[in-house]
Amino acid sequence: MSNTVRIGVVGCGSVMQHAYSRQINLLKQRDLVETVVACDIKEERKALVTGPEYGYQRFTTDFEEVVTAADVDLVLVTTSMREHGMVARAALEAGKHVLVEKPMASTLEEAAALVELARTSKGFLIPAPHVLLSPTYQKMWRHLHNGDIGTPYLARAFYGWSGPNWGKWFYQPGGGSMFDLGVYNIVSLTGFLGPARRVSGLIGTAIQQRVVEGELMEVQTDDNVHLCIEFAHNCYAVVTTGFTIQRYRTPAIEIYGSKGTIQMLGDDWDPDGYELWQNDVGAWKVFPESDPNWPWTDGINHLVHCIRNGVRPLHDPAHAYHVIEIIEKARLVGKTGMAQTIESSFSPPNLSGEKTEDAAHLQHDPTN
Ligand SMILES: NC(=O)c1ccc[n+]([C@@H]2O[C@H](COP(=O)([O-])OP(=O)(O)OC[C@H]3O[C@@H](n4cnc5c(N)ncnc54)[C@H](O)[C@@H]3O)[C@@H](O)[C@H]2O)c1
Repeated sequence: MSNTVRIGVVGCGSVMQHAYSRQINLLKQRDLVETVVACDIKEERKALVTGPEYGYQRFTTDFEEVVTAADVDLVLVTTSMREHGMVARAALEAGKHVLVEKPMASTLEEAAALVELARTSKGFLIPAPHVLLSPTYQKMWRHLHNGDIGTPYLARAFYGWSGPNWGKWFYQPGGGSMFDLGVYNIVSLTGFLGPARRVSGLIGTAIQQRVVEGELMEVQTDDNVHLCIEFAHNCYAVVTTGFTIQRYRTPAIEIYGSKGTIQMLGDDWDPDGYELWQNDVGAWKVFPESDPNWPWTDGINHLVHCIRNGVRPLHDPAHAYHVIEIIEKARLVGKTGMAQTIESSFSPPNLSGEKTEDAAHLQHDPTN
């Protein structure tokens, strides 16, 4: 591999065009990456993605041509959700590095196969979301793990909006508000509090029909959720999420401990600083956002950095699997009304900033 990371992308819709490409173009300006081949089943994307704004050298409608291309090092998977597992798997099998949008796979079986493959594959696997990379998240993690709010007892996480009017797949099996939105909160909470043990709650469909891409369709997935998660030592969290929320003014994450409270302002994918209450201080400390331009697509910078420097990514596929199990079990809660046990686990991240090889993720400059 040359020092420049050669990118192939599968799925050239909204997120590829409006989000990841911004970071990729910045990396390109520094000669850190090359945009080699783009793929979409919609042939009409060709003119756009091979044009000057995106600059891919080739276009194909067959993702196999991307994952097997000899001149591709990194495959970015930004298709609709149901295709993620299949494309990510083929890319890992072909020895590529992979960044796959969330969810990593839409079934636990597919997710398990990816975790297994990632253990032995030549390439790294980075599953979105990338919330653990945000400087604000990492500062809050250190407060929590330094004992600044004591033992955590309760937590709340929040993210929602009125829902996309494109992509019918958002509302079909394999989609849903937990895979699209709640997933950020669940990654955040489990990153802070460790593996979940049990889930319960109220999970359902509030809006039975929607107009998507100009057509009326039946909604076949969750769009309205209060998910309760039990962690070790009877620490409980609730995630409120849905395609049923027009606007909100509430912190993304709140954690209540034996000596204080910490809360993230803004959203966990777009933090706006945080607030800390400590009983022995007796006042709220407000920490303004230190990195207002932090992009939620930062995983691409991180992966390029890891490839160029040969360091293991912060992202843990076993964590992504755990989150998918939580969501699958939450759907079962919605159907049966019964609490469900979570069987999987993962090693909680270490964001302490200690200068070990594994803490290389704390450096965000991919030129390093
Ligand atoms: N839209 C958002 O705000 C947002 C934010 C964060 C993450 N995401 C995630 O990003 C992914 C893409 O979302 P989007 O909003 O860009 O969707 P989109 O529908 O705009 O784009 C998906 C693209 O994938 C293409 N595609 C589907 N199957 C394919 C295949 N087999 N091979 C090649 N191309 C294929 C579609 O033709 C489409 O162009 C989703 O997984 C979503 O969860 C979306």
